[in-house]
Amino acid sequence: MYIGIDAGTSGLKAILVDRDQTVRASRTVKLRVSTPHTGWSEQDPESWWQALLEAIDGLKQDDSKAVAAVTGIGLSGQQHGAVLLGDDDRVLRPCILWNDVRSEEECHEFEEAFPESRAVCGNIAMPGFTAPKLLWVRKNEPDIFRQTRHVLLPKAWLRMKMCGEKIEDMSDASGSLWLDVGKREWSAAALEATGLNIDSMPRLCEGVDPAGTLSRELTARWGMDKAPVIAGSAGDNAASAVGLGAVRAGDAFVSLGTSGVVWCTTDRFRPNTDSAVHAFCHAIPDTWHQMGVTLSAASSLAWWAGVNGVDEATLLAELPDRIERPSRALFLPYLNGERTPHNDGRVRGAFLGLDRSLERPELTQAVLEGVAHSFRDALDGLRDAGSNPTSADMVGGGSRSRTWISILASVLDLDLHRLAHGEQGGAFGAARLARIAATGDAVEDVCVPPVRTETIAPDPSLVEEYEDAQERYRAAYPLLSSITT
Ligand code: XUL
Repeated sequence: MYIGIDAGTSGLKAILVDRDQTVRASRTVKLRVSTPHTGWSEQDPESWWQALLEAIDGLKQDDSKAVAAVTGIGLSGQQHGAVLLGDDDRVLRPCILWNDVRSEEECHEFEEAFPESRAVCGNIAMPGFTAPKLLWVRKNEPDIFRQTRHVLLPKAWLRMKMCGEKIEDMSDASGSLWLDVGKREWSAAALEATGLNIDSMPRLCEGVDPAGTLSRELTARWGMDKAPVIAGSAGDNAASAVGLGAVRAGDAFVSLGTSGVVWCTTDRFRPNTDSAVHAFCHAIPDTWHQMGVTLSAASSLAWWAGVNGVDEATLLAELPDRIERPSRALFLPYLNGERTPHNDGRVRGAFLGLDRSLERPELTQAVLEGVAHSFRDALDGLRDAGSNPTSADMVGGGSRSRTWISILASVLDLDLHRLAHGEQGGAFGAARLARIAATGDAVEDVCVPPVRTETIAPDPSLVEEYEDAQERYRAAYPLLSSITT
């Protein structure tokens, strides 16, 4: 029996999974984000800890016999956040989260201080990442910086609370900008550019490694027969990939959630920072991945639904069963800036080509297509960096729409699979990592692909037309960027 924990931003989820990979119980505890200033996003780590205790206490209430038999625990975590610890591992300030954008200026300072950073760390310095956050603290809260002895990412801090050790896995460490992602070791130069050194960092491990044992006190609290092993675990995207069985080079998935992700597993470190592609270590040894991010994916449709005063399902129901031709309008989904390929937090979106004969369904279609064009930009960044997936699994709330998937298939020119159980999420991948760490079972035996109910192929009559639309979409970005106020 295994527990998978997903320490997300809006909630912490814990699931109980058996050897047949059946989810036996699930508990989610909501979390709040505080925004003391525009662009800031913080959480008190203690609130994660209380949520974790409550969630696993809840699993015990649901099935105490199964919890007693737990032999492994895995963690999936929101990435990039900086938990600063002083002497005695005291938390010095609220955690600055992945979606906090205060450190724009410090990103430039980091890259100036460490000009090789893109090649070594595989990523452009972005305010979401950890290193620029520490430069911000050094400049704006020098007392806190002086007291900082260790910096942990969110799930590494939770691990420390569970077993007393400071250990970080490679996939999450990749999002810090302190990891030499190709060599899978801390980069002394990256740390130095932030005024830190290796002594401030946790020990590194692979996601599948055993990395700590649950404390005696917690083992007793949850009535476990013996102290479970804690897996090295993974950042949330890598954990989701493990949950989807995306562990071999070429395996791909597309997540149509609030924000969107195009993921491809790679057998080597293949950065492409020119297109703002992320290149990270995977949770599996000797494996990496590339990822492109669309900031407003399903949230673009949610926005359009809000403007119309209806829900998304109403808008989707107005579309024809089969899309015959691209919308005459073009939508650019930069409602909150864009990450891949532009890394431009300031640009804003647009409807173009408006005509008085356009009605709501065709504009809704344009919204779905605009998001698909953004994913295509991201996928082309991955393709430029040597990945060439031929199919991908679809996850995320937006993937419930067959129409949206069929538009995506034609825009991406890729076969897309619909899944039987929808999204299993990071907690399921974390439970798989727990099993591998606890038993030594082979990755390929545990990380099997999900059950696919349908494969949606590109519509040949639309692929070419969408190719032309993609050109127009690309041509619009520099114009929008040049008129951003
Ligand atoms: C990844 C990223 C997000 C967070 C959200 O680069 O910023 O997926 O991990 O939890």
